[in-house]
Amino acid sequence: MNILFDDEKKIFKIDTEHTSYVIAVTDEEGFLGHVYYGTKISDMDVNYLLRTEENPFVPSKNNRDRSSFLDTFPMEYPGNGVGDYRESAIAVKDGNGHSAVMPLYRSYNITPGKAKIPGLPAAFAKEGECLSLEIVLYDEVLSLEVTLVYTIYAGSDVMTRSTKVTNRSKQEITLTKVMSASIDMDAEDYEMLSLHGSWARERQIEQRPIGYGKQSVGSTRGESSHQEHPFVALVSKGATQESGRVYGMHFVYSGNFLAQVEKNQFDSLRMMMGIHPQDFAWKLGENETFYAPEAVLVYSDQGLGAMTRNLHDFYRNHMIRSPYKNKKRPILINNWEATYFDFDTEKLIAIAKEAKKCGIEMLVMDDGWFGHRNDDNTSLGDWQVNENKIKGGLKHLVDEVNRIGLAFGIWFEPEMISPDSNLYQKHSDWAIALPNRTPCRSRNQYVLDLSRKEVRDYVYEAVASVLRSANIAYVKWDMNRQLTDLGSNFLDADHQGELMHRYVLGVYELQERLITEFPELLLENCSGGGARFDPGMLYYSPQIWCSDDTDAIERLKIQEGTALIYPLSTMGAHVSDCPNHTVGRVTPFETRGNVALAGTFGYELDITKIPEEDRNMIPKQTAMYHKYNDLVREGDYYRIASYSSNHEYDCYEVVSKDKKEALVTFVQVLNRPNCHSRRIRLQGLDEKVRYQIEGIEGSFYGDTLMHAGVKIPNMWGDFQSVLLHLKEAEN
Ligand code: DGJ
Repeated sequence: MNILFDDEKKIFKIDTEHTSYVIAVTDEEGFLGHVYYGTKISDMDVNYLLRTEENPFVPSKNNRDRSSFLDTFPMEYPGNGVGDYRESAIAVKDGNGHSAVMPLYRSYNITPGKAKIPGLPAAFAKEGECLSLEIVLYDEVLSLEVTLVYTIYAGSDVMTRSTKVTNRSKQEITLTKVMSASIDMDAEDYEMLSLHGSWARERQIEQRPIGYGKQSVGSTRGESSHQEHPFVALVSKGATQESGRVYGMHFVYSGNFLAQVEKNQFDSLRMMMGIHPQDFAWKLGENETFYAPEAVLVYSDQGLGAMTRNLHDFYRNHMIRSPYKNKKRPILINNWEATYFDFDTEKLIAIAKEAKKCGIEMLVMDDGWFGHRNDDNTSLGDWQVNENKIKGGLKHLVDEVNRIGLAFGIWFEPEMISPDSNLYQKHSDWAIALPNRTPCRSRNQYVLDLSRKEVRDYVYEAVASVLRSANIAYVKWDMNRQLTDLGSNFLDADHQGELMHRYVLGVYELQERLITEFPELLLENCSGGGARFDPGMLYYSPQIWCSDDTDAIERLKIQEGTALIYPLSTMGAHVSDCPNHTVGRVTPFETRGNVALAGTFGYELDITKIPEEDRNMIPKQTAMYHKYNDLVREGDYYRIASYSSNHEYDCYEVVSKDKKEALVTFVQVLNRPNCHSRRIRLQGLDEKVRYQIEGIEGSFYGDTLMHAGVKIPNMWGDFQSVLLHLKEAEN
């Protein structure tokens, strides 16, 4: 990795292992231009590629007589309102009510290491393991300083970008848009890949042609959301898992976002990522700085698979801080789908006893243990244990569960307040709401105004005091509604537009405090399933509940989309009972286990009630988890076949870093008459190594398995699955 600057020609070149990123400054005006991003190149001066030609009928600007280049010039960080009609990366409302801003190049700084972004999650690395470039831009009219921050990481093809904006004037200024990253490039034959979804159907992959105009995904819901995901990729047409060019942008943020691709009249593409400008306005006083969250940029010229593996390694090495990141997580049993709100100490202990016999290692008590919460209408905010249910108190229950030999975990939804709660009786003004409007209820609850310190302090103490009261090893931090009625009783009129971002900063502050006071705690984030599955959350918790849909077949698609950009070690995945509670499907217990093994693994069922033959399978599954989890958690992931595109079967593979071991999961979703065995070509093996496949006679070279393939026999029935475990042959 290296960052170079040619002082004479004013060119920056950022090289990762296999990529180059070139930025240049124009002589006359000091515009910062984006010259190149892609496969590593040797030349530094590739300015001949910059589009500076004039085009008719677009605004000209100052000293470039009749020049029309502003609307076509590839900007590294496009300004607003002075001639570039494409989407701007920044916009303001100044003291005169104007929105124009055009920051020009001023200076730069290249340093080893990386500065933290105050209050925000961001990738980290030791000083010798990363290099940062800061480019300072300046708008003379506004006295506004815009600093673009780039960091590259040793051994990685990922680059991170963020932006900070400082008001150097004496007047206040309001930022109405600050994107974190923007790139302009020529519109070659790219398609746009994004992840869409819904509750219980998160992160489904969609790829579409890029038309003229703007195509975007985003969230204005106050969280990264079920519906759209803070990730977008440009994918060359026809790209596969193993070939083609892919540019990915991923946002390290858990609130509103905009990810947009724009194709304009001159066939240029602008791709950007940042906080969604809707409902955003941030006031900056003299010398105050606004920090925009970080964006992760990744480029692959070897298809989607290489992008995936780059991101997996990057998040494992540079985003997840938890002491659990390289450790096996305890196999848990969660009582949500087992009992919903109908449980008590006795019931939980009965589950714990049976679970222990089967090799399960932790009991998680989900929603319903506090206040008078017997359904989802009450008590959020009243984090005192309900002793009518948890007879003998929480410590007694935890001690009993520990005595049985299981660790104990607990559920919270700290950001919420039920109208039917003691907290609301005392502090109805703590809920986010607009004056004179009845706020929307969602799941019969409101959202707490976490922009307010006293609210955050209350929430923190409520959670922490429960954790201090007993031996609690794990917390599931849930968030079951999105933000509406954006009004804070605390912020003045000039700062109401800051609420959404301040809310997210509040969530981050709370989780930071929690993992600081309880450094050994295993934190799992969750939001009505996987509505806040994003890199920002991974900075605080090594795992996130993937989806409320635990059906093994639906999970194939959800986990495929999730694993496209997130390591398997982060995906909360449980075996549940059938008929499945979300879709009513009945699948073999074995397949449910095989699919959940691709994630953190656990159970979400009443182990005292499930059929005996299912229960008898659990010890085998927990043993398999111990056998395969190091590989699944730390290996390289290869997508072999996709049920979401072929509608018949799914197949993925994890290969250990030393290529001596691999695990292939094959699920036959639909059987067809007269259908024969299938040939599956593996990936990522060592061509010269001979592998033994457990249960199959003989051994085969990696090249045979990758080019000629393995045979998966046709299985009787739908939803059947098989695991192939490969190991380097002994001789
Ligand atoms: C939504 C979560 O995704 C579920 O797993 C469960 O914890 C419920 N909330 C509880 O209300």
